[in-house]
Amino acid sequence: MLLFREKIPAEWLPKVLANLPSVLVDHAHLERKAATTSINLEKYRDLFPRVDELNAIAIEELQHFQLVLAILKRRGIPFGQPQKSPWITGLMKSIRNGVRHQVIDHLICCTLIEGRSCEKFQILADALKTLDPELATFYASLVESEGNHYATYYLMAKELDATETQTRLSFYLDLEAELIRLPNPFPMLH
Ligand SMILES: [Fe+2]
Ligand SMILES: [Fe+2]
Repeated sequence: MLLFREKIPAEWLPKVLANLPSVLVDHAHLERKAATTSINLEKYRDLFPRVDELNAIAIEELQHFQLVLAILKRRGIPFGQPQKSPWITGLMKSIRNGVRHQVIDHLICCTLIEGRSCEKFQILADALKTLDPELATFYASLVESEGNHYATYYLMAKELDATETQTRLSFYLDLEAELIRLPNPFPMLH
């Protein structure tokens, strides 16, 4: 199992709780990007045999996207522009070129993003229990699914090359620990 090397900064949760409408818009985009990322992974020859599983993830992410959009609608929050996440950009920027290298790195980035989402959704489910029970239930309902995505991406990388996956996972966990410490002025999930 994945062990992050840095804790989520203490300022993250209060900032998110104080800005739930913008966080929900950011979350909608996060699910949209998760769906497209899963489909993008199908461009790699190494993952041709996994196309059905990747489509299944994309469909689930699209369903999550729809669920967040429904919450936005019920709450009268307009679906707005996405903000760029320095954390996600920082991870994706380090994907190496080259057939096998690229697919392993890409899968590891997806693993870390899904892993942190899973962790943060659980934190939100607990923190929102009395503050906003509807959202608390919603976040709790996503935890298992994001956990499965995280495990699927990690196993896909491992099955391609277990040694390379371990080496790169270690590299990315160090990078992630640095990136999560960077201050982000925007209230975002990542
Ligand atoms: Fe999702
Ligand atoms: Fe996911």
